[in-house]
Amino acid sequence: MILLGVNIDHCATLRQARYRQSDSTCGGAVEPDPVLLAQLSERAGADGITVHLREDRRHIQERDVWRLRESIATRLNLEMACTPEMTEFALKLKPDSVCLVPENREEVTTEGGLDVVANRDRVRAVVDAMNAAGIKTSLFIDPEDAQIDLAAELRAPWIELHTGSYANAYFRAEDRTREFQRLRLGAVRAHDLGLTVNAGHGINYVNIAEVRTIPHLHELNIGHSIISRALFTGIEEAVREMKTRMND
Ligand code: PXP
Repeated sequence: MILLGVNIDHCATLRQARYRQSDSTCGGAVEPDPVLLAQLSERAGADGITVHLREDRRHIQERDVWRLRESIATRLNLEMACTPEMTEFALKLKPDSVCLVPENREEVTTEGGLDVVANRDRVRAVVDAMNAAGIKTSLFIDPEDAQIDLAAELRAPWIELHTGSYANAYFRAEDRTREFQRLRLGAVRAHDLGLTVNAGHGINYVNIAEVRTIPHLHELNIGHSIISRALFTGIEEAVREMKTRMND
């Protein structure tokens, strides 16, 4: 069975659009609360909760992460930039896993995979620190041989294949076939090297039918489509439907 990590960042995006100045839930007046959303997601079958604590704090805030740490029943996956400040934060928080992502202030969401080859020493430092603390590290990378090979060499236990280019190409048949093939080959190569293979970014209720056929998938991290669907169906139905489509 493929596991589902629900990324709740966009719940916080909506809250921040109105309540940027608030530093508490004000007894429930400050909505929507990402922690409540996480708990409802778990009740509907989410296998883990993912948040990205960005340097600019545009959506998830530190207090959200601490509240999640003590309130959720499944696994907390912290997406973070590969910096000493975030490493220190993660070692204090002790999430179940961290996912290293590139961070560029201008982008609306994470756009490209982490360039492990260009940031080899920085990535190694974080992986070593997390391995020593018993926290799993996942590297969010494009399906490129050099990135996958280095992830294994640096002893990161997990990778998350970036499905964004595939999702963007979905309605252009030739590009889609090419991007899907890259994901398939990347997953096989990573699995052969002993890496656990996750995937995420741009996965929705339509492309999931093909995404789920990527070999060796352990977990998918999905945010935008589930949060969007929840506006109409509620979060529990949105999570249940995605899990059904992932696994029949
Ligand atoms: N995985 C990673 C590493 C991400 O940065 C994101 C976007 O925040 C996601 C998964 C989820 O992407 P989406 O919101 O498009 O489902």
